[in-house]
Amino acid sequence: MTSTTSETLTHKPAWKALAAHYQTLRGQHLRDLFAADPGRAGRMSLEAAGLLLDYSKNRITDETLRLLLQLAAECDLRGRIDAMFSGEKINLTEKRAVLHTALRAPRAASIVVDGENVVPQVHAVLDKMAAFCDKVRGGQWLGHTGKPIRNIVNVGIGGSDLGPVMAYEALKSYSQRDLTFRFVSNVDSVDFAEAVQGLDAAETLFVISSKTFTTQETMTNAQTARDWALAGLGGDAAAVARHFVAVSTNAAKVSAFGIDTANMFEFWDWVGGRYSMDSAIGLSTMLALGPDNFRALLAGFHEMDEHFRTAPFAENLPVLLGLLTVWYTNFFDAETVAVLPYEQYLKRFPAYLQQLTMESNGKRVTRDGTPVSYQTSPIYWGEPGTNGQHSFYQLIHQGTKLIPCDFLAFAESLQPIGRHHDMLMANVFAQAEALAFGKTAEQVQAEGTPDWLVPHRVFEGNRPSNTILAPKLTPALLGKLVALYEHSVYTQGVIWDINPFDQWGVELGKVLANRILPELESAEEPALGHDASTNRLIRWYRQHKG
Ligand code: F6P
Repeated sequence: MTSTTSETLTHKPAWKALAAHYQTLRGQHLRDLFAADPGRAGRMSLEAAGLLLDYSKNRITDETLRLLLQLAAECDLRGRIDAMFSGEKINLTEKRAVLHTALRAPRAASIVVDGENVVPQVHAVLDKMAAFCDKVRGGQWLGHTGKPIRNIVNVGIGGSDLGPVMAYEALKSYSQRDLTFRFVSNVDSVDFAEAVQGLDAAETLFVISSKTFTTQETMTNAQTARDWALAGLGGDAAAVARHFVAVSTNAAKVSAFGIDTANMFEFWDWVGGRYSMDSAIGLSTMLALGPDNFRALLAGFHEMDEHFRTAPFAENLPVLLGLLTVWYTNFFDAETVAVLPYEQYLKRFPAYLQQLTMESNGKRVTRDGTPVSYQTSPIYWGEPGTNGQHSFYQLIHQGTKLIPCDFLAFAESLQPIGRHHDMLMANVFAQAEALAFGKTAEQVQAEGTPDWLVPHRVFEGNRPSNTILAPKLTPALLGKLVALYEHSVYTQGVIWDINPFDQWGVELGKVLANRILPELESAEEPALGHDASTNRLIRWYRQHKG
């Protein structure tokens, strides 16, 4: 039985061995590791579930991998994976199962939560979504004035926005192009105002997406959407039924808002918000792509789930990615991971990953509430290549920080034109090569560089990266990629002995904002009981607000 205290992690034999091993490895350069070992690239790359992961440009040896895998065993990663897939209530602080994997299980599967097989419910909702999407996409779902729907506006925030918008952008080339998709998340009214610019209410459908149906931003935007739609449709409240659908776990709140639960697409409390893009939260995705493509997306997720669940850890893509992140975070003190897609369609993928990774593993106590004595989630960030090369890559190449990078790229472009794709791919390979191998002072001097300029032109190298390649960005591939990171995050969370599935850290700000709002709106000068700084900021705003 594994204990759940942080003491235990840093006292585990594998952790101690990794700390000692780090001391011998930290001075070694990737140049030398490659030169000494011609089989390295072949051995440290893995093709599985339709992806190629080349992890040879990491600051590791076979011994590092052996110890990381031993650490996984000592942390009972196998048992914890089985606990998640079997529906154990591993989200301890919310007493919930964690079953996003059930959302993509095949129809015939059986996954039991509280005595009930949830797979038939999952497929019933998928079928209801498909029937609705076919009607909207086929022009049979008519608005209040009899016009077909041409515009779909998803209203949601966090997991009820980031997945839908990322998937829409990623798979736009598979979407029904005569439908317009917009996404509103921010309580800043600019977001709503811009999202409905130029739209005709008679042709617009709002998908109100909120797991809880209580989130302040979403409820405010939903109310504004209702007012906007009714203003454009002559004020008849009956119009809501044709122009609003809801995606939620909370039927009572959906009804209270005025949306008929017949127009509600359900999901369940065992789906975390940031793990919900493949639940009914994906309704806008299915509207854009059609039911067949959405099912292909789910099949991709499922393929990666099965790989994670069954592959030996040494050949397990999410396990390896997760363990490498632990290696850099805890032994090299790396603070961030850059995710760099060389695929313009994945431009929102880093933003999506930020919630998935940091809302999951940004925790400071173990599962039993003990403060950790080691770092947990790194900061994830990134932008598509090649744009980032002309912006922040300077720091990755020559700055003082170690930033492990994940490069993502595809063999085939979805919009091939001339030489563009070969140029894109030449850049991704070049960046990973330059980061790992750098350019020595001797090489710089040999080019005739004056001595005073040499230090500025040296590339130290030894900067680690993974390269993840796939044939082509398809719906199935996107599912695999998202599941790859979901399970890497879980692997990290298991090693750190934290709960990746709650998010108490968002609560305090919400409570304080609710307390401050009436102070901003009150006609009388309010008595303020905050700290001196917050009091002054509130008074300044009250004096200057329009
Ligand atoms: O930011 C906190 C959070 O609860 C996220 O976990 C969630 O994805 C988001 O708010 C939106 O929540 P809901 O879907 O309930 O509106």
